[in-house]
This record gives sequence, structure tokens and C-alpha cells, in this order.
Amino acid sequence: YRYSIDNISKIIDKALKNKVPMIALFPHTNTKLKNVNGSEAFNENNLVSKAIVAIKNKYKNHIGIMCDVALDPYTSHGHDGLLKNNRIVNDETINILIKQSLLQASMGCDVIAPSDMMDGRIGVIRSALDANKNKDTIILSYAAKFASSFYGPFRDAVGSKTNLAGASKKTYQMDVRNSDEALHVVAIDVDEGADIVMIKPGMPYLDIISKVKEKFQMPTFAYQVSGEYSMLSNAISQGLLDKSVMLESIVSFKRAGSDAVLTYAAKQIAKEIKDE
Ligand code: PBG
Repeated sequence: YRYSIDNISKIIDKALKNKVPMIALFPHTNTKLKNVNGSEAFNENNLVSKAIVAIKNKYKNHIGIMCDVALDPYTSHGHDGLLKNNRIVNDETINILIKQSLLQASMGCDVIAPSDMMDGRIGVIRSALDANKNKDTIILSYAAKFASSFYGPFRDAVGSKTNLAGASKKTYQMDVRNSDEALHVVAIDVDEGADIVMIKPGMPYLDIISKVKEKFQMPTFAYQVSGEYSMLSNAISQGLLDKSVMLESIVSFKRAGSDAVLTYAAKQIAKEIKDE
């Protein structure tokens, strides 16, 4: 589902009631505002800015806000980075990600979450935040993010699916067959100053969660992505599976070693845990 700003408090009230500590904001951008440079990402009055300000005004620090740093909601080609001569240009992309991060932090975002998978972005974003009075802003790096087909429903909701027109993100997201590479990219992000590392998708990658937690002992998050959530919720709504599979899937993340889970089932799971 998508929510407009005037409707967002309905969902935040529920989150708070069930002790969900943080929400993640993802914008759906009008096609007219998309371009090759993704410049809406650093427009002070973009949807994310307005949402952060509205939420912080109403809820102060009772709920944490995390925001994706990546250009896919804003680019006409749907990629997370800038595209030149049909290639993603890493370093030019990073310059824009810095601007996007500084804007989000200045609006009051608590956790900056780069999900773009460009190389070297954590270090430069950390330095830029520190130099701009945002030393306390947390960086949650989507450190090991695979080029997965489980992101389908998300791309539909955020509106990048049509723009991507079948193009893949395999030159910057990880090869789903690699596990050593996951440890290498996590090591780099930790070294550059990530406060939290995230593995994504979740359930098909429990082996990676377990290895990352064991090796780095970092705050380690798992993302139960849109495709995983949709599979379970569709199976539940069609009566194929009992609704307890949702909590069981979340427990599997904890068992594998994740400290927290980013999930579309948060409201439901949190209520079940509270009621237990
Ligand atoms: C994009 C982004 C994606 C998700 C979070 N941030 C999709 C992608 O990389 O194409 C996926 C989330 C989900 O499927 O729930 N930067």
C-alpha cells in the first residue's frame, strides 16, 4: 500500500501502539519529476522531506525514521545510480547520494540507509554528515544486497518497475551465487564507518546473515523484502498456510543472528509478540 502524508499517522499510531521502534520511508515519485539525474532526490521539498518533517512534528522522537539513500525512485531509467553510455557511473552517483543524505539528515531523519550498492559511499557520506553537524545520524548500510528477483512488488509500489523496463541491477547489486563476496563488501562498509549492516533479501539468505553476524559482531539487520512478504501473505490469505508462518519466518532471522528485522509484517508481528 501507499500512504499520503495526511494518512500516515494512522499507520504510525498502530506502529507505536505495538512498540515498533522505527519506520522506513520510501517515496512514490510522479513521473514528471523523474529525470536522468534523479535530481528530485535532493529537492528540499520532495515527498520524503515533507514526510520526515510532518512525522517529526507530530511524534517528536517517539518513532525512529529511516530513509533509503538511492536514486531509483527519482531516475527516469529506474536505476539506483546515474547511467551514462549504458553504464552505471559509481563516483558521479556518490556525489548525488551525499546531497540526498545531507538533505534527509537535515530534515530530521534518524537513520540514513544507503541501499544503492555503489562502492565507497559509506565513507564519504559519514564524512559529509560529520562535517555538517550530523555526527549523531546513524548509517545503516545495505551492505550485502543481492541482485534478487524478490524485489518485484517493491519496484511496483515505488514506481521504478516500468522505468527499469526489464533492465537488471546486476552490475552493482551482488551475484546471488556469491557468499565470500558478501563478507568482503560488509568488511568494506564496516571499515568506512557503517553503524549497522543489513543483509537483503532475508529468508533465502539466512546463511549470509549467520556468517556476517559471526564474523563482524556488528549490529546486523535483515530485510524481509517485498517478494518474501507477498509470498507469505498471499499464501495466508488464500488459506494455504496458517498465519503463524509470518512470525516463524521472523524468528528464523533472529535464530540466524540478526538483531533486528525490517519487515512489512511489523505491525502484525509486533502485536502477536505483545499478545504472547
Ligand atoms: C532500491 C531498493 C529496493 C528495495 C529497497 N530499496 C529495490 C531494488 O533494489 O530494486 C527492495 C525492498 C523490497 O523488495 O522490499 N534502492
